[in-house]
Amino acid sequence: MRAYRLTAVTGGFRLDLRHEPAPQPEPGQAVVRIRAVSLNYRDLVMRQGQYGGAAANKIPCSDGAGDVVAVGDGVTRVKVGDRVAGIFMQRWISGPPTPDGNRSALGGDLDGMLAEQVALSEHGLVKAPDHLSFEEAATLPCAAVTAWHALVERGKLVAGQTVLVLGTGGVSMFAAQIARAAGARVIATSGAAAKIARLRDLGFTDTVNYNDTPDWDKAVKSMTAGRGVDHVVEVGGNTIEKSLKSAAVGGHIAQIGVVAGRDLGMNPFSIVLKNLTMSGIYVGSREHFERMNSFFTLHRIHPVISGNFGFEEAGAAFAHMEAAKHFGKIVIRI
Ligand SMILES: NC(=O)c1ccc[n+]([C@@H]2O[C@H](COP(=O)([O-])OP(=O)(O)OC[C@H]3O[C@@H](n4cnc5c(N)ncnc54)[C@H](OP(=O)(O)O)[C@@H]3O)[C@@H](O)[C@H]2O)c1
Repeated sequence: MRAYRLTAVTGGFRLDLRHEPAPQPEPGQAVVRIRAVSLNYRDLVMRQGQYGGAAANKIPCSDGAGDVVAVGDGVTRVKVGDRVAGIFMQRWISGPPTPDGNRSALGGDLDGMLAEQVALSEHGLVKAPDHLSFEEAATLPCAAVTAWHALVERGKLVAGQTVLVLGTGGVSMFAAQIARAAGARVIATSGAAAKIARLRDLGFTDTVNYNDTPDWDKAVKSMTAGRGVDHVVEVGGNTIEKSLKSAAVGGHIAQIGVVAGRDLGMNPFSIVLKNLTMSGIYVGSREHFERMNSFFTLHRIHPVISGNFGFEEAGAAFAHMEAAKHFGKIVIRI
């Protein structure tokens, strides 16, 4: 079977496609024939050598879906033929996060999914929702679970609230879809006019172009009659100061990412004076993933995918993400 591995080079890692023996299931494991992998910003940063951890020689990418082709002794949770996706942290099954769970991420701590076959613990898999293709199911483990954890599990989102999402990347588009299905109003930003148009085509009509409107927090406040939003899905990092200004008194900021940079320069007093709740969100557990799948199934949510690449084009898929040409998720078909 073929698998990509990260080879250390100056300034990061090179993607090398290698031939390797197909994995055999150990007791408690299932072998999954991977049909599709999706990219996350983390995979890009990892490849650029800026994520830390021991990426050298690892199979990259946390997110993949496929069908079970073999099971080891004692496996009861899945069977041959099941359509499954891997969970991001292989050892965070339920309950609160743990240090051990935090050290079990695919495509970083452990070998990832950019391979024709992988062997994973039966506990590190969820069934793919029936209404989703393999490509769609492959987009869920990191970005969708993060958005779900941020808004629903931690944020306790309820109908009638307002949610601000920043940019049109994977996490933000899932957050927008989850919020809308939950009955919330969505305000979405993007730096590109063409992406604003795509947001509108999808029915997300409350939009702000953060390049045309650098004081986008003021626009958000004015769109909410001065009140601010109940939840901010904060994927920007450097955007935090404006996110704090966009939040309503008593609002919730889910701190998730750093696509805009890491020099936060924030004034903590707006957190205090507005009685804000800030949540650090690092993906989520298998239990979160399973509850989210029920929600996606009920609401027939289909992930937004804008880049589709073949297995031999994995390098081009990474370049597509680096150029931020995508809208929603990028998928590599295997
Ligand atoms: N904590 C976690 O568990 C977790 C999980 C997943 C992701 N993350 C992090 O969350 C961030 C987003 O991840 P992702 O996979 O969704 O990334 P992504 O799909 O690569 O999203 C990139 C998008 O971010 C938007 N963006 C860039 N600069 C921006 C700015 N200054 N203001 C607002 N939007 C901006 C752009 O959208 P437009 O072109 O539309 O402006 C760009 O296309 C990353 O930092 C990632 O590491 C964290």
